[in-house]
Amino acid sequence: MKSKNITLVDFGITREMREARNGHKGACIWLTGLSGSGKSTIAKALVAKLFEMGCQTKVLDGDNIRHGLCSDLGFSSEDRSENIRRIAEVAKLFVHDANIVICAFISPYQKDRDFARSIIDDGHFFETYLNCNVETCKERDPKGLYKKALAGEITGFTGVDSPYEAPQNPEIVIDTVNTIVDDNVKKILRVVDQLFIKEDRF
Ligand code: ADX
Repeated sequence: MKSKNITLVDFGITREMREARNGHKGACIWLTGLSGSGKSTIAKALVAKLFEMGCQTKVLDGDNIRHGLCSDLGFSSEDRSENIRRIAEVAKLFVHDANIVICAFISPYQKDRDFARSIIDDGHFFETYLNCNVETCKERDPKGLYKKALAGEITGFTGVDSPYEAPQNPEIVIDTVNTIVDDNVKKILRVVDQLFIKEDRF
């Protein structure tokens, strides 16, 4: 830590007080996968369902965050690590305030996802692998970026000429090739069920 002479301040409203009011605990649902694997689609459907259930949520999404908080970062391995480090720290703050935080980032490196896990309490981090083969992602190509990468107009594109390390031990694996979005949302909710304090949420 660079700064000296800094002291943590307690603002009085505790995590437990917020959890009791929200009816659920704080957690981070970390979606990882290739560009085009369905992270934003799942995040959108999941946050809609959680909102309908009355949950406090926050979505942090790669393209959005790179317009602001991480607009100074590119796609080198160092910059991607710094991107994930910042996001993880933001997620931690929201989790501590009893939010269900959905993070949707390629997050291609296991060590960076492990860092995020390490700063969020045990049992409150759900690494969720959106498993979609690169051929399907290329076919989907929702932003036309694979086309550009294959044409050499973008270099260091994940899945083309930059690596993606599939999670080694994720809490959740979603096959986004042969399934429908609603079923995947239900699958995630079943795994995170332990977060809900009130019984009647589904
Ligand atoms: S991460 O690797 O640092 O986790 P992040 O999720 O924030 O990436 O951003 C990925 C998004 O940036 C992609 O969905 C895509 O729209 C865009 N993008 C632009 N250039 C690249 C690139 N070289 N590799 C991957 N994604 C890129």
